[in-house]
Amino acid sequence: MLTLRIIIDVMMAITWLLTLEYKILGMALHEYVGLTLFACFIVHILLNWRWFANLTKGTYNTTRLLRTTANLALIVCIIVVIATVPFVSRVVYTNLSGSLPVGVWKLIKGLHKGAGKLGFVLLVLHVFFHWTYLRNVLGKIFVSKDKDKARLANIK
Ligand code: HEM
Ligand code: HEM
Repeated sequence: MLTLRIIIDVMMAITWLLTLEYKILGMALHEYVGLTLFACFIVHILLNWRWFANLTKGTYNTTRLLRTTANLALIVCIIVVIATVPFVSRVVYTNLSGSLPVGVWKLIKGLHKGAGKLGFVLLVLHVFFHWTYLRNVLGKIFVSKDKDKARLANIK
């Protein structure tokens, strides 16, 4: 379970980074990678459902308030990005923007891009908050693999 958590975490970090500039991947890959990121987000949220259940419990000091606000803002960003997809997509969906006034469509496109970029800033903050945990888990996974290799080398 820990390995699944960490795989999802790393995949999300990489895929979000890749979606930031669609010229890196090209439009089609941007859209598929973006959908993969959204699927990872759903798994990540399900794995952390307990956090949501505890939101109304306990007291809020400054750190908890900051972390909670950043987490909720990050969730809002990814929801805005995904909710605007049917109107901006060029590959995966038939673009629904045809019936919209140009001004509204531009606003929706701006929301998609803006939420994508703001979300990344919040993601960096989120990773920063979890840095010690991530470093320890990654350390455990890689160090234990190195130890296994060393043990096997000794047996040979
Ligand atoms: C769409 C992006 C993301 C959202 C909305 C999100 C949201 C959340 C929420 C609500 C929690 C539970 C509360 C908490 O512990 O702060 C959490 C936990 C956590 N998040 Fe994220 N997260 C996202 C992406 C990431 C990424 C990219 C990483 C790491 C590179 C990451 C690392 C973690 C870690 C280490 C935890 C603690 C437990 C676990 O590994 O699942 N998160 N996240
Ligand atoms: C959570 C995942 C996603 C993030 C973080 C994200 C973020 C972004 C960002 C930051 C841009 C602006 C890129 C730039 O200025 O070079 C952009 C553009 C775009 N995205 Fe996404 N995106 C995501 C998912 C998707 C998906 C799933 C689709 C479609 C199925 C999509 C379709 C587009 C399109 C068509 C543009 C270009 C808009 C234009 O300028 O005409 N994105 N996205």
